[in-house]
Amino acid sequence: MSDLIKLCKTQDVAPGQSLQVDAEGLPAMAVYNLDGEYFVSNNMCTHGMAWMTDGYVEGDEVECPFHGGRFNIRTGEPTAFPCVVPLQTYTVKVVGDEVCIERPAA
Ligand code: FES
Repeated sequence: MSDLIKLCKTQDVAPGQSLQVDAEGLPAMAVYNLDGEYFVSNNMCTHGMAWMTDGYVEGDEVECPFHGGRFNIRTGEPTAFPCVVPLQTYTVKVVGDEVCIERPAA
């Protein structure tokens, strides 16, 4: 049984929205709701000091509020310049109404 970390309630993130969450010992994370499917990645843009939760969710992508770089929310892969380094993503498990991630390997 893997170690799950609770991040928020499912109802805390509306479809097409994101939410910043913090968990001890981990970088700030963003929870996304894509039509009822939840995804979690690091919230800090890999290009600069910007929170992706301050940006815009469009389809499966999130656009950074600083320079307009984009990432695929499902994979963390960069999809638009100037972002070239992927966002770290986490394995999500929804347990009841709790959005959780598996504790990443140290
Ligand atoms: S800080 Fe995000 S695109 Fe530059």
